[in-house]
Amino acid sequence: MPAPAEPIVQIVPTAEAATPLLLGELRAAIARRTRPVIGFATGATFAPLFAALAAEFAAGRIGRTDFVATHLDEYEGFPPARAGGMVHELVTRCPPFADMLAAGAFAPVPADDRLLPAHEERIARLGGVELQFLGIGRNGHVAFNEPGTPFETGFHRTALATTTREDARPRFLPDEPPRHALTAGIASILAARRLVLCAFGKGKAAAVAAMLGARPATSCPASAVRLHGNALVVLDRAASASIGQAAE
Ligand code: GLP
Repeated sequence: MPAPAEPIVQIVPTAEAATPLLLGELRAAIARRTRPVIGFATGATFAPLFAALAAEFAAGRIGRTDFVATHLDEYEGFPPARAGGMVHELVTRCPPFADMLAAGAFAPVPADDRLLPAHEERIARLGGVELQFLGIGRNGHVAFNEPGTPFETGFHRTALATTTREDARPRFLPDEPPRHALTAGIASILAARRLVLCAFGKGKAAAVAAMLGARPATSCPASAVRLHGNALVVLDRAASASIGQAAE
């Protein structure tokens, strides 16, 4: 079998400059398929996209029935209304998602691993994920697939890495960040028809270099996007600064 096409890498001047491109990906997915499932990612990386998406809903340029929303991961024990959780973050950043959740047009990742098989079945029944947005952790994680996670894994419960918990600490203060999360696995992510991974800022430069450097390996979970064949990687200049430099 021929090797899958490497991701297209697009470098934009700033994170904000990526927003029109990301909205374009969303519109293209809606044009390709009736009511596609769109998988969003949480985190600061996508804050400008969610603000812009809220404005698109408000202007009527995108409708609440144009797609079904879902996302990658949730902290264990954080149902949708609980602050600090991923669904809570998504509906806060983009309030129309709350209406979609109430109308059954938003499939939240459950906060309890016993409910993961039903979630996977629901996504499959909806036709699978058409477009999956992805971020990257500074340790190379994608969703909450920490280094060492086998690429063959579907949705699962996982223990969070130390750097992941440290990065998440501010959202849980004064409490400790959770130790476990439920996440789409690499196999779940690779099943989406289109992947768009974004990384902005110098804190991501090493992870981006590892992702695009040597052969895809579980030491850098995000490197699995190179096995997909229909992936776009969007970087700002700072995040792209170390590409091509040998690791270590
Ligand atoms: C979290 C999420 C990832 C996200 C990553 C980067 O841990 N599980 O899906 O991509 O962190 O977050 P940020 O965009 O805030 O850097």
